[in-house]
Amino acid sequence: MKVLLIGSGGREDALAHALARSPRLTGLFAAPGNPGIARVASLVALDPADHAAVIAFCEARAIDFVVVGPEVPLVAGIVDDLAAAGIAAFGPSRLAARLEGSKGFTKDICARYGIPTAAYGRFADEAAALAHLERVGAPIVVKADGLAAGKGVTVAMTIEEARAAIVDCFSGAFGAAGAEVVIEEFLDGEEASFFALCDGTTALPFASAQDHKRVGDGDTGPNTGGMGAYSPAPIMTAEMTERVMAEIIRPTVAAMKAEGCPFKGVFFAGLMIGSKGPQLIEYNTRFGDPETQVMLERLESDLLELLLACAEGRLAGEAVRLRDEAALTVVVAAKGYPGAVEKGSEIRGLAAAEAMPGVTVQHAGTKADGARILANGGRVLNVTARGRSVGEARARAYAAVDALDWPEGFCRRDIGWRAVARERA
Ligand code: AMP
Ligand code: GLY
Repeated sequence: MKVLLIGSGGREDALAHALARSPRLTGLFAAPGNPGIARVASLVALDPADHAAVIAFCEARAIDFVVVGPEVPLVAGIVDDLAAAGIAAFGPSRLAARLEGSKGFTKDICARYGIPTAAYGRFADEAAALAHLERVGAPIVVKADGLAAGKGVTVAMTIEEARAAIVDCFSGAFGAAGAEVVIEEFLDGEEASFFALCDGTTALPFASAQDHKRVGDGDTGPNTGGMGAYSPAPIMTAEMTERVMAEIIRPTVAAMKAEGCPFKGVFFAGLMIGSKGPQLIEYNTRFGDPETQVMLERLESDLLELLLACAEGRLAGEAVRLRDEAALTVVVAAKGYPGAVEKGSEIRGLAAAEAMPGVTVQHAGTKADGARILANGGRVLNVTARGRSVGEARARAYAAVDALDWPEGFCRRDIGWRAVARERA
């Protein structure tokens, strides 16, 4: 089976390596890919936004299956366009990807089908949003409706902050994504990310993870795409997993079917687990980055077989087998991230880092220059390790980070602190 993987980050590096382990695979291509992915796939210089070019490539190279990594092509309907050309793909249709593409859509689905989530209002005009804010007060959360690369959410502790966020959204800070605003109740509790595969009818728990969104140690500083993660999330016990499946995931599967847009792909549920039990913060409709890097370290099952089963409606006969181990990843970013960064500095010590026991290194934002690897983005590398505990995985990952020689980079030094504190307790 010949597979084309769409994307170019650390998530796609992990997906590529997991797909490459499948006995069913006969050829792996990645568009546009990166130097880490090039270790196991042929890179193709295609723009994923150009669906016609992607289809032409699939036809020319007889690609059997396309795996879509990022959200932008999903929300733009790449899976529908591939299907119309007779090409199977992993990921939701354009209408099903609204679960990620429109926060208001998801909130309405939750309200209509009784899925636990924060109370909310949807507003298409600034005056109405501000008036609502005066009624509900702070703390409160203000969200741009559409895709904003993780930057469209303000958790406002004061009414002034919330007002500023509303004004920002409507003045175009997030472009078209902010033309509508969702204002929602502030939820208290512990966050976890939970992933479930779905073939439109059947959903199967995949794994859980805990991300670290803030740039600085102790969860300080601005939000990022994620500075590190570990799996499993200790709060997602077998009992909590079953509650989330029963109260959130399966009702969503039924809702999407009833709405005429059955969901095929992976649910990435952002959860808040508090005194009321699990509540949905948001859905993403793709694998998480860097959560995927740690979940796939633990996956024993054949990833390609699972993703095909989602696309072909055969998930009921499948099982997700995970190693009874923890995995942790440290994101190494270019200094300045999440602000402006310099590109082009050389990264040394990669071979030494990868030679450490239980360690893999995914490329997230690199570029090859002959045999040299150069930084080419904000989040540049993911240093990932397995261990019997989060603590052991963390010690291995940081030992490998320290084997890198890249003075222009930095990382958080406390990834996994909550889980490690729990393990020590
Ligand atoms: P999102 O992009 O929706 O995942 O939001 C980004 C982050 O904002 C989440 O990971 C939470 O930490 C926080 N957040 C979002 N919605 C809420 C809420 N209703 N209550 C508290 N925190 C929230
Ligand atoms: N790590 C968060 C995300 O993938 O959206």
